[in-house]
Amino acid sequence: MKILPSDITPYSIYINRRKFIKGAGAAALSFSISRKTQANHIGDNDLYKELLDNNDTLNTFEEITTYNNFYEFGMGKTDPYKNSGSFNPIPWTIKLEGLINKPKTIDLEKLLSLVTIEDRVYRLRCVEAWSMVIPWQGFSLSKLIKIADPLSAAKFVQFETIFRPEEMPGQRRRILPWPYVEGLRIDEAMHPLTILSTGLYGHDLLNQNGAPIRLVVPWKYGFKSIKSIVTIRFVDKEPKATWPMTAPSEYGFYSNVNSLVDHPRWSQSTERRIGEFKRRKTMMFNGYEEEVSHLYKGMDLKKFY
Ligand code: MTE
Repeated sequence: MKILPSDITPYSIYINRRKFIKGAGAAALSFSISRKTQANHIGDNDLYKELLDNNDTLNTFEEITTYNNFYEFGMGKTDPYKNSGSFNPIPWTIKLEGLINKPKTIDLEKLLSLVTIEDRVYRLRCVEAWSMVIPWQGFSLSKLIKIADPLSAAKFVQFETIFRPEEMPGQRRRILPWPYVEGLRIDEAMHPLTILSTGLYGHDLLNQNGAPIRLVVPWKYGFKSIKSIVTIRFVDKEPKATWPMTAPSEYGFYSNVNSLVDHPRWSQSTERRIGEFKRRKTMMFNGYEEEVSHLYKGMDLKKFY
């Protein structure tokens, strides 16, 4: 499926569909909504300038939607783009369960009417040492956690991707144990940088990027950012996560971007930004050290990799 600029929903329609609520929270990352609605978002660096760090430029919509990891659609980087056309993410519900006061199954449209969608520009840095800069739309996961109202015994959150082998060809093979699962400590999940994303470049998420809702944890390696989430479970012990389960000596539960801790088979000190020729030095916590290092105070990050 080739996405042409004309296929991209104009931002005004996106806003209507998502019942965009302009709230106080959005102002923190503000540039005005009206400015956004006038422009086509595709590849528009100027529009996102205020959200970009000095050294970063946005990856293009095409780069972000044709070079992906989503093993449910195959192991190759172009497989998700080629093989995800039959996946249908509408309608969608998310189950909140486990150690919470309000277990429920919540309709995504209803959830989106309860939260304010904000623009965030985050780097995504994958464990194989490639990276992209992506203008996400989404909301802080903490908002959904407040709706779930966890008990004090809930110390971790586990996320689960949909299991739908009839629409996801990768799930018909045992490439990974399905469904894909991931986890965060509850303070990581509550951190304001941790978002649930429903779109990028003003367009609803395409299937290859994890439609209709996926996690983005910008200071961790990309595999933590689990796609097409159907279940969020609150638990008292460190939950299972797909990659640490599959190759525990290579992937840890924390998976913070850390140039000082190499992957057993390759260095993590530099990265290749998709679209750039020269490799970049990898920043501690993917450049979000100031915001998140307090979460790991006193922890040996070589042990808790
Ligand atoms: N989520 C699911 N369900 N299945 C996957 O294979 N791959 C992960 C993550 N989320 C993956 C997933 C990996 S390895 C990366 S790097 C990011 O998604 C990539 O996100 P992107 O394709 O939107 O850039």
